[in-house]
Amino acid sequence: MRIGVLTGGGDAPGLNAAIRAVVLRATALGHEVLGITDGWAGLLGEAEPRALGVRDANRILSEGGTILGTSRTDPRKDDASRRAVLESIRRWRIDALVAIGGNDTLGVAQWLHEQRIRVIGVPKTVDNDLSETDYCIGFDTAVTVVADALDRLRTTASAHHRVVVVEAMGRDTGWVAAYGGLAGGADLIIVPEIQITSEQVVRTMKRHRAIGDPDILVVVSEAAVIDGLEAETAVDRDAFGHVRLDQRAIGAVLARHIEQRTGIEARQVVLGHLQRGGSPTAVDRLRATRFGNAAADLVDAGRSGVLPVLRGGRIEVATMTEAVREVRRLSDDIIELVRRFAGVVD
Ligand code: F6P
Repeated sequence: MRIGVLTGGGDAPGLNAAIRAVVLRATALGHEVLGITDGWAGLLGEAEPRALGVRDANRILSEGGTILGTSRTDPRKDDASRRAVLESIRRWRIDALVAIGGNDTLGVAQWLHEQRIRVIGVPKTVDNDLSETDYCIGFDTAVTVVADALDRLRTTASAHHRVVVVEAMGRDTGWVAAYGGLAGGADLIIVPEIQITSEQVVRTMKRHRAIGDPDILVVVSEAAVIDGLEAETAVDRDAFGHVRLDQRAIGAVLARHIEQRTGIEARQVVLGHLQRGGSPTAVDRLRATRFGNAAADLVDAGRSGVLPVLRGGRIEVATMTEAVREVRRLSDDIIELVRRFAGVVD
C-alpha cells in the first residue's frame, strides 16, 4: 500500500517520534510511505508530498516540531476544497492515510472516512483532551515544561517575596495546568473544571502570606473563568473557529488583580509555545512510538475510521467518532487532588 502520513493542528513534542514509528513499521510490513506537507493544506494541492523511507525517519525520534510541517486547515470549508482533497488522494494514489492530530484534525479524518477514504488517526495534543484515551502525544512534555518553570520561578518569587502567576495552555480543559501545577508544587491551580471567585483567590493569597509563605505560585489555565474578574476580549479566530486564548491574557489580569487587592507584589509569566517546543520527554517518545506502531498495524489490517488509544497503560482501539465526540475534562480524582494540594482556602 501507499500510505500518506500528515500532522495537523498545533504542533506537539513527539510528532516526529510518531512519524518515525509509522514509517519504520509500515516499511517493515512492505508498504510505501508518503509524507504530506503542512497538514490538510498539503492535500489542497499546495505542496507535493515526498516519499519517506527508513533513512528519513531513523534520526528524528528526539526532534521537536514536525518534519512534515503542520497547519490549522479545514478542507471541508467549501466544495472546491472538499473536491481538491479527494482529487489529491486519487492523483497521488494514496491507499490509506495516517492523520496525527487532535480534535480538529481527527474531525476531518472522520469526514474522509465517511467519503470512503481509508484513514487511521493518532492522538496528539498537548491539551490532552481527546476522549477515549488517557494520554495524547505532547502532553507529558508540556507538563514537564510547566513543572520546570515552577521550580525556577519558586526561587525568584521567594527572593522577592512575590506572587508569580503562570499561565498554562489548555483550550477547554485544565490538564496541563493541573498536572504541571501539581508536579511543580503550585500553591493555587485555577482550571476551567473548578469554579472559583476572585474573592477566593484574594483570600487564598492573604492566607499564604499570613502563614509565612515567602513566595506564592499560582498556575492558571488560559481558558479559566474566574467569577468577578473580567479577562481581556479575544478577537481573532483560527480556521476551526477557535478564539485565540492567549488574547484573553488571564494571567496578566489575575496578577494585576492580586497585587491591587492584596498589596503583595505580583508578576506573571505566559509559558505559551514553550510548552509545545523542543525535544519530547522519554515518556512522549515512547507513547508516540507505541501509537505510530499501532497505527501502521491498523492500516496493514485494513482498518479505517479508528485510532490507537491508551487505556490503563494498554494500547486499545477507539473509533474517531468516539474520540472527538466531546472534549475530555479533568477526571474527578485529579480535581480532588487539585482541591487538596492547590485549592482555595475558605
Ligand atoms: O490546542 C493546542 C493549543 O496549544 C492550545 O492549548 C492553545 O490554545 C492553542 O493550541 C494555540 O494555538 P496556536 O499555536 O495556533 O497559537
